[in-house]
Parts: sequence; structure tokens; C-alpha cells
Amino acid sequence: MFKVGLTGGIGSGKSKVADMLASWGAAVIDTDVIAHELTAPGGAAIEPIRRAFGPGVIAENGALDRQVMRELAFQSPEARRRLEAIIHPMIGAETGSRAKAAQGSYLVFVVPLLVESGRWRNKLDRICVVDCDPETQVARVQARSGLTREAIARIMSAQASREERIAAAHDIVSNGRDTSLEELELRVRALHECWYMQAQQPPATPHTEGASGQVPAPHAAADPGGLPLRKS
Ligand SMILES: Nc1ncnc2c1ncn2[C@@H]1O[C@H](COP(=O)(O)OP(=O)(O)OP(=O)(O)O)[C@@H](O)[C@H]1O
Ligand SMILES: [Mg+2]
Repeated sequence: MFKVGLTGGIGSGKSKVADMLASWGAAVIDTDVIAHELTAPGGAAIEPIRRAFGPGVIAENGALDRQVMRELAFQSPEARRRLEAIIHPMIGAETGSRAKAAQGSYLVFVVPLLVESGRWRNKLDRICVVDCDPETQVARVQARSGLTREAIARIMSAQASREERIAAAHDIVSNGRDTSLEELELRVRALHECWYMQAQQPPATPHTEGASGQVPAPHAAADPGGLPLRKS
């Protein structure tokens, strides 16, 4: 199946874009949603996390206390690594089994830390970045979550920079301050049509995991008005 990795900074609009793609028939697997499920009450990661970090990181309702855990992980790289060692393999296994069962015109993986992780790149046919100016990211996240400005800035500073993400992207959806939801939909629709067409084509080489870079880009640099950007 043709595979697109969708990434972007916190609050950039990944989930919004993924919802649009799903409504047009793509199969969407959101690793953030999986992480939330694993750490919800009764989630498979709860007991291993409790054993590793003690009951203080589990909220009264039995879910991971994300605020406490986030604080711990920020203060201790060791704690962060231990948490990742528990949760990443679980996310990987669940992502893999959902991908096997996925039904759709192509497959979209929403991966917030795709650029940071490095493990994803050669598993994907296209990497798409939802690009957003930092001020708008902060405003969106504040409106949604009640996190403080400082907490959001800290999360953003632990993520790849805007430039690093753009450097890794094949496709870019611009979703900054001046982008209305209607404009966003037009941009995403244009990309969806490219990916849909590419997904219909047989692979250029015998398909192996990681045939990245082999995929033709039918509208390279030719999108009217430059929207959305296709880099290659
Ligand atoms: N172009 C836009 N105009 C108005 N609101 C938007 C736009 N794009 C996204 N939003 C809103 O901004 C918020 C953040 O978007 P979304 O949840 O899609 O971001 P995200 O990248 O998935 O964030 P996270 O990293 O936290 O998962 C949501 O409430 C969404 O509805
Ligand atoms: Mg999201």
C-alpha cells in the first residue's frame, strides 16, 4: 500500500488534515491516538509504567497522569528514555497490526515526531509536513488544552525545528495564521489527489519496505498558486 507519513509540530493541524484525508477514503493510523489509548485507564502501558515509575504517575482514574509524566521526562532524560522504551515498542506493534488490517485508497501514518525519530523515513513513500508559524501553534494549543505558554514553548523546544521538518518533507501543507479551514481543505485535497493517483500506480521497482524516493511526483512544483508545496 502507498504510505504517507504526516507530521508537524504540536498544534500545527496534523489531526485536522488526517481527518480530511480519512473522509476522502485514506486509511489513517494516528500514533498519538494509539499512545493515548495505551495510556488510558486499563491501557496496556499503564502497568509497565506504574512498575517503572511508581503510582505517582498514574492519575486517580487509572490513566497516565500526563502532566506529572511530562514534568518527570523533562527533568530527567533517563526517565524519558525509560518511558520511551516502554511505550515505543507498544506503539510500533499496534501501528504494524493496524497497518496490516488497513482498508483505504492509501495509508496515512500520523507521527508527531517522525523527523526526530529517524526510524520512519525509509518506511514511507511520502513525508508530508503540516507547517505552521510558532505563534499560531501556541495559540491553537492554548485554546485547546489550557497548557501554559511556557509549557507549550518547552514542548516545542524539544521538537524538531520548523526548518528541520521542512528539510525532511516531500510535501508541505501550509497551515499558519492566515489559513482558513476552507483554504486548508483545498490544499489538502490537492495533495490527496496526487497521492491517490500515485497509489494507483505499480511501484517503479520491485516493492520492498522503504522504496522511498522512487515515487513519481506528477505535479512537482506545478501547483497553481504554489499551494500546496511539492518539493520533489
Ligand atoms: N486552519 C485552521 N484554522 C482554524 N483552526 C485550525 C486550523 N488548523 C487547525 N485548527 C485547530 O487548531 C487545533 C490544533 O489542530 P490539530 O489538533 O489538528 O493539531 P495537531 O497538529 O494534531 O496537534 P497535536 O500535535 O497536539 O496533536 C484544533 O483545535 C484545530 O481544529
Ligand atoms: Mg493531533
